[in-house]
Amino acid sequence: MELKDKVAVVTGSGRGIGEGIALVLAREGARLVIVDMNLDDANGVVKKIAAKGGKAIAIRTDISKKIEVGAMVAETVKQFGTVDILVNNAGIEGPPTLVKDLPEAQWDRVLAINLKGTFLCCQAVLPPMMAQKKGKIVNIASTAAIRMTFFGSADYTVSKHGVAGLTQHLAWELADSNITVNAVCPGGVLTPLMEQHTTAEYRHTVEERLIPLGRMCTIGEIGESVSFLASNRADMITGQLLAVDGGLLTGFGEDLRAVVRKRMEDVKAASKH
Ligand SMILES: NC(=O)c1ccc[n+]([C@@H]2O[C@H](COP(=O)([O-])OP(=O)(O)OC[C@H]3O[C@@H](n4cnc5c(N)ncnc54)[C@H](O)[C@@H]3O)[C@@H](O)[C@H]2O)c1
Repeated sequence: MELKDKVAVVTGSGRGIGEGIALVLAREGARLVIVDMNLDDANGVVKKIAAKGGKAIAIRTDISKKIEVGAMVAETVKQFGTVDILVNNAGIEGPPTLVKDLPEAQWDRVLAINLKGTFLCCQAVLPPMMAQKKGKIVNIASTAAIRMTFFGSADYTVSKHGVAGLTQHLAWELADSNITVNAVCPGGVLTPLMEQHTTAEYRHTVEERLIPLGRMCTIGEIGESVSFLASNRADMITGQLLAVDGGLLTGFGEDLRAVVRKRMEDVKAASKH
């Protein structure tokens, strides 16, 4: 139980990767704040944690709204006294689209949640973390923070590159407050987001031809890497991007240009019906 009694805020933890992270942190003894736009899902995760003897609360928040983020952190401090760990996980992706066809609204929404939301949550937890002169921030970026995404479009890649830049700036700015800031970069993880935007056939192609370890990552495997970075074992690690991707970034996969283009065409054709 290496996170015993730590207060951990995990955004977007009502399902998918965020849920996986919350369950691992709770197993390690942390008290969890399950933040999500979907309160029913968040309450479901609170119940799972409570069933295993853990402590968690749910707070409905849209992380792209500064006023809601401020209220969420205030409620956390009211209920648990502080924030020790912030995991910026909430993120979205629009349908895969070439830049020439990308709607402005999709660009704005993806950037508002994936990048501005991460910035707002970091900013909001700084007063309690700086007051106690310690804290751990883990941003869930993506391999798209390092290269381009293999299943989305440029708006997503740009948002995650932004998260990588923010991670490095904050690591530098917060070092003398003893707050570490790192990013975990998942490759492919089978979650509702992934299922929504890909077919089983496409996922199979990616696993076979792009990921040296030959499979998608589980939500629990992302949770383990976050738990490590949030623990004292990682006290000397800050400003890093940790790819948890089954070797995807080694770059020995095939060129998937034809596969990706076909999928974009399929999605475009389907949206016309
Ligand atoms: N699934 C993958 O293969 C993969 C790969 C790399 C990175 N990621 C990143 O991991 C994170 C989680 O992805 P996932 O696959 O679990 O997605 P998901 O869609 O399954 O879950 C995302 C959760 O975030 C919540 N959310 C969305 N917008 C929100 C907002 N504005 N405020 C609060 N909550 C909000 C949703 O309600 C949902 O519960 C994202 O940042 C995503 O970019 C995912």
